[in-house]
Amino acid sequence: MFSDTAEHQQAYVIVCGNEKGGTGKTTTSMHIAIALLNAGYRVATIDLDGRQKTLTRYIENRKNWSDRYNLNLLIPTHDYVEPSTAETKSDRNSEELSNFMAIISRTEQNHDFVVVDTAGHDGYLMQLSHSIADTLISPINDSYLDFDILGQVDALTGDVIKLSHYAKTVREARRKRRIADNGFLDWVIVRNRLSTLHSRNSSSLISSLKSLSMRLGCRIADGISERVVFRELFPIGLTVLDDLEEATFGGQISNSHIAARHEVRSLIAALRLPIDELGRKRAEARRNWLKNADKPIDMMGLLAD
Ligand SMILES: Nc1ncnc2c1ncn2[C@@H]1O[C@H](COP(=O)(O)OP(=O)(O)OP(=O)(O)O)[C@@H](O)[C@H]1O
Ligand SMILES: [Mg+2]
Repeated sequence: MFSDTAEHQQAYVIVCGNEKGGTGKTTTSMHIAIALLNAGYRVATIDLDGRQKTLTRYIENRKNWSDRYNLNLLIPTHDYVEPSTAETKSDRNSEELSNFMAIISRTEQNHDFVVVDTAGHDGYLMQLSHSIADTLISPINDSYLDFDILGQVDALTGDVIKLSHYAKTVREARRKRRIADNGFLDWVIVRNRLSTLHSRNSSSLISSLKSLSMRLGCRIADGISERVVFRELFPIGLTVLDDLEEATFGGQISNSHIAARHEVRSLIAALRLPIDELGRKRAEARRNWLKNADKPIDMMGLLAD
């Protein structure tokens, strides 16, 4: 765990993002946040999906459930960025940028990790968040339909023949980050909602993902299987990592819950999040870069009109 002695300790930023909706960004963000809280870290969460605010509601549900039944559940410090209603796009970007930066500066001083959940579409905040991520997690459903947000594949060989807009955006965010502070953005594509049945499609998808990871320098990790439990826990703000028997008053924990918990833990391990000096240094470098990036115009190259 990070030391409490560093007065200006900086948080490590984990961003869940991709350009497609409904792939598991919010579910993954929540589970990572709770896993880190359970492991003793100080965790802040930021919801950049100011319209849907699903992560915000997930956390509110958790707080309500915990308060109502006196459960003392661990809850991250949470913020969200309200979508700006300014007239011009440039004013909206500028207002949202300063709100986001204000939240980051407020939280990174006294948290070990900041988990940022983004909206499932291209936008200023999404792109900005990618530039400050230490780890970027892009969940995709296990199908070629979702793969398409990363790149197009040759139908016969499964090789990646063209990178998508999103893949190029991440590559560019990475490049700028490297130039700015020599920081490294660890990009992990997480296969979510895996079918428990092995199919030919799935093994050819794995080979396409490998081809993509070679080309982009990203990593591939297995996420969680398709399980009903992930949909059931949202209204009561729980995760598969919680003590479900206690939090649901004797509700039976099923084999599916146990398997899901195991999968989430394996995912966290695969992320190789920093719990050491190296991670802290990386976070410090990012902070210095952020401090100097006082001109949003520098980021404008990342923006698509
Ligand atoms: N492994 C899973 N098994 C079953 N259902 C899942 C799984 N992961 C996510 N879901 C469900 O899929 C839906 C979309 O998940 P989630 O909201 O996490 O995606 P998202 O990428 O944040 O979506 P959006 O782009 O709309 O913000 C939700 O109903 C969620 O409960
Ligand atoms: Mg979401």
